[in-house]
Amino acid sequence: MLKGNTVGLRARHEDDIPVLRAELFDDVVNGSRADGRPWRPVTPGTKDPRLVVDDTEQGRVPFSVVDLASGTLVGMANLWGIDTHNRSAHIGLGLLPAARGKGYGTDVVAVLCHYGFVVRGLHRLQIETLADNTAMLRSAERNGFVREGVLRSSSWVLGEFLDEVLLGLLAEDWKPAARS
Ligand SMILES: CC(C)(COP(=O)(O)OP(=O)(O)OC[C@H]1O[C@@H](n2cnc3c(N)ncnc32)[C@H](O)[C@@H]1OP(=O)(O)O)[C@@H](O)C(=O)NCCC(=O)NCCS
Repeated sequence: MLKGNTVGLRARHEDDIPVLRAELFDDVVNGSRADGRPWRPVTPGTKDPRLVVDDTEQGRVPFSVVDLASGTLVGMANLWGIDTHNRSAHIGLGLLPAARGKGYGTDVVAVLCHYGFVVRGLHRLQIETLADNTAMLRSAERNGFVREGVLRSSSWVLGEFLDEVLLGLLAEDWKPAARS
């Protein structure tokens, strides 16, 4: 397990899947904001590619996020779009609604940076998030990510186009101690 100050990032367990699906994807608003594709219902028992892990897939590393002290599941996180030539990747995360606003998100980003820069030897990490997602923007900026641009009207979310903000962090600018 990868450990931060308050969170652990571990492998996806089978019994995480129904919880993550119900809390993060079944709700149309949460699901539409978290996924660039249109919301649709997923039949129980089918292999949802957002949640079911294929360990042979090289470009994406999915984690389940737990509270370090109790081991309770609090969300999911991914390093995705891993490009071993340009040594870059994207990060993404989603916390269960009851776990938001308690500092976990900032700590998850810190652990994903450790995984990307130290474990994988990457040079650049990137995040795209909706421009109104203050909690995600702050979680990224607290870890040293800088806003590199706005993707104007790039995301169709429940009846309107929203801007996305693109943030990046280079290995040489990362200060692991700055997170706590
Ligand atoms: C985005 C998300 C991962 C952030 O994690 P979090 O644990 O809620 O965030 P934190 O508690 O670490 O807070 C980070 C900062 O955002 C602020 N913040 C938290 N929730 C906020 C809210 N609802 N509105 C405004 N600011 C908020 C905190 O005060 C903190 O600010 P600070 O660094 O200036 O002190 C989490 O809210 C989440 O899973 N949201 C739904 C899914 C999602 O949006 N995922 C990201 C898709 S790119």
